[in-house]
Amino acid sequence: MRHLLSTRDLDRATAIEILDVAEDMADVQQRAVRKLPTLRGRTVVNLFFEDSTRTRISFEAAAKRLSADVINFSAKGSSVSKGESLKDTAQTLAAIGADAVVIRHPASGAPQVLAQSAWIEAGIVNAGDGTHEHPTQGLLDAFTIRRRIHGDAARGRDLDGIRVTIVGDILHSRVARSNVWLLSSLGAEVHLVAPATLMPVGVGSWPATRGYDLDEALATKPDVVMMLRVQAERMSAAFFPTAREYSRYWGLDDRRFAMLGAGSMVMHPGPMNRGLEISSRAADSAKSTVLEQVANGVSVRMAVLYLVLSGEKGETP
Ligand code: ASP
Ligand code: CP
Repeated sequence: MRHLLSTRDLDRATAIEILDVAEDMADVQQRAVRKLPTLRGRTVVNLFFEDSTRTRISFEAAAKRLSADVINFSAKGSSVSKGESLKDTAQTLAAIGADAVVIRHPASGAPQVLAQSAWIEAGIVNAGDGTHEHPTQGLLDAFTIRRRIHGDAARGRDLDGIRVTIVGDILHSRVARSNVWLLSSLGAEVHLVAPATLMPVGVGSWPATRGYDLDEALATKPDVVMMLRVQAERMSAAFFPTAREYSRYWGLDDRRFAMLGAGSMVMHPGPMNRGLEISSRAADSAKSTVLEQVANGVSVRMAVLYLVLSGEKGETP
């Protein structure tokens, strides 16, 4: 795999291969010594033009557990604030000898621009670009669902027939987009629920059904309920009247949480707005996979870095 830019262009076999390598990486995480020498001598740059907690630290942990050298770059505090362009930043990283660049950027398509440019040879991994995609989040979500459902027998399996309901600010969510493409290629049935103002135009062409009533959607007892953060920082207009109304109609509050089936799971990519899209009872319950998602993120990102860095020079992993 030369780059990982989106899940839309991942076929089912490649997606399952990444999840299976992540299973191997998860096994390594159970050992007393959690480090592998695999990427010794390689340099991974975390290039973050947008804030992050989970993605940045888990890419850093992943690279370190594979023995790569890691350079963390955040736009705040860098020469980007002096007006330096993406091209000059990329060329600087190339001069330093980056083998892989993990990039988060507010502009949709920025990772693609780097991958197609002649500015840098490194493998490019998209860590979230604007409202476009967040492929490693989709992969860690699929990994989490597959593990909860199939346990130790997860390797090689898809998500055939699993019903996933994604709820909330779909308009601004790259997590929703990456999940829709990936989960549907893995055979899951994806249903989207949002206020009409937060349902993207063109959603009709996505491989998902849609609705506008959360109670109706939960009454069908989906296997997975994935709550999305209300992305206030991307909202230039009022998309709903008040926070109270949002949580009343679209929040997974205690009443709705009680409607969920016994075996169902509650997901959230984080960071959570507790009390807005999700109640603390739901977020902290045994049905919640929030912290499992974070832990699995390290294994999935180890798999992605490994596959990108071994595919880089045409080697087969
Ligand atoms: N952390 C995820 C992202 O960066 C989800 C979110 O921020 O709501 O896309
Ligand atoms: N889920 C996620 O991407 O979290 P961060 O924005 O904290 O990285």
